Amino acid sequence: MEIKIERLDDLGRGIGYVDGIITFVPSTIPGDIVDAKITKQHKKYKEAEVVRYLKFSEQRIPAPCPFFADCGGCTLQPLPYEDTIKYKVTKVKNLFLKKGVSINPQVITNPKPYNYRNKISLKIIDGQIGFYQVMSNNLVNITECLISDKALNKCLKLLSSFNIKNGNIVIRCNQKGEILIIITSKDQLNIASDFLKKHLNLRGIIINNKLVYGADYFMEEINGIQYKVSYDAFFQVNPYVASQLFAIIKNNINPGDKVVDLYSGVGTLSLNAALVAERVFGIEIVENAVEDAQYNALINDISNVTFLLGDASKLPNLNINFNKLIVDPPRSGLSKELVETILDVKPQNIIYVSCDPATLVRDYKLLEEAYAIKKSYVLDMFSYTYHVETILILERYVK
Ligand SMILES: C[S@@+](CC[C@H](N)C(=O)[O-])C[C@H]1O[C@@H](n2cnc3c(N)ncnc32)[C@H](O)[C@@H]1O
Repeated sequence: MEIKIERLDDLGRGIGYVDGIITFVPSTIPGDIVDAKITKQHKKYKEAEVVRYLKFSEQRIPAPCPFFADCGGCTLQPLPYEDTIKYKVTKVKNLFLKKGVSINPQVITNPKPYNYRNKISLKIIDGQIGFYQVMSNNLVNITECLISDKALNKCLKLLSSFNIKNGNIVIRCNQKGEILIIITSKDQLNIASDFLKKHLNLRGIIINNKLVYGADYFMEEINGIQYKVSYDAFFQVNPYVASQLFAIIKNNINPGDKVVDLYSGVGTLSLNAALVAERVFGIEIVENAVEDAQYNALINDISNVTFLLGDASKLPNLNINFNKLIVDPPRSGLSKELVETILDVKPQNIIYVSCDPATLVRDYKLLEEAYAIKKSYVLDMFSYTYHVETILILERYVK
């Protein structure tokens, strides 16, 4: 059946109508006219897949990735870059508008929209290396990922030398192109580190959480601050946009501020805040990340910051008065318990950094009884995917 695609949904799928019923069609963009078949009928909507394109949208450009058709990770590749930004800003604004909140975010684009990612996570099944196809369990065998750093792509091509039959592999790199290979597998592995060393700027190999070659961390530098990042510690996947995120944090801190940074990772936001604030406390649940953060404070000569191991979702009683709270949680956002604690503790400002605008809006609606949005930012941290980073700067308006 013929479907004309009218707009994109929040997951980057095309939306059209069949007999007046909303129908989601992956791999399409607004203006495409497709011959599609219905794959799932739901009570209020349908899902369909393209059989063939009858007319391409005038907006459409050729997706540069050779695996685009199968992988589905970068749904926005058939759009010009400026249009991907318009889509993301509209998506964030609409998510807020649907809940009765109007925002006008400052937009931060990605200076390097391809080859920006410093981490890829791959699955290996029966010797085939790849990504899971979006929204499925089908493995797409890939030899290149256009949004990932060139150093990671070089490594990807050499992975077959490990002879892994089944498992997971994560490859990370810093801006110097130094590579960490992190493998989880029950297989007997062939670790040809000499061979890899010849071809890569190999920093370390970790198998089943055990260091088997080199170092289990790398160093990264952003905005003049050095970071040690352990193999299992979080680091922002896009260093070019992370640089702008860190600058936004620093610009929203005032001298005299006492800051608590929840979900602090290796200390990135805390250390940037500490350059201006009087005192900063960071709380993070991954032990190696907390140790990295403490080390990072030391090597950068930043002494007004303390990092603690703990569960941020329960905000441990720190016995300190703080006026500013930074939160940068995983996609799931803040727990109800944490929101209630924040409302009780009453910090004057909250800087909420979010990688999922849907949970951000949900949490803001709970905070809205005491906090107003002073500023908002949309950052293109995950170019060509439907994901987006959003920051809200909140101010308490209730005494
Ligand atoms: C989105 S990352 C942000 C890290 C850091 N702000 C940065 O910019 O690099 C979220 C962090 O929260 C940590 N985390 C997840 N659940 C947590 C919890 N319950 N308590 C404390 N930290 C947690 C993760 O390990 C990760 O480091």
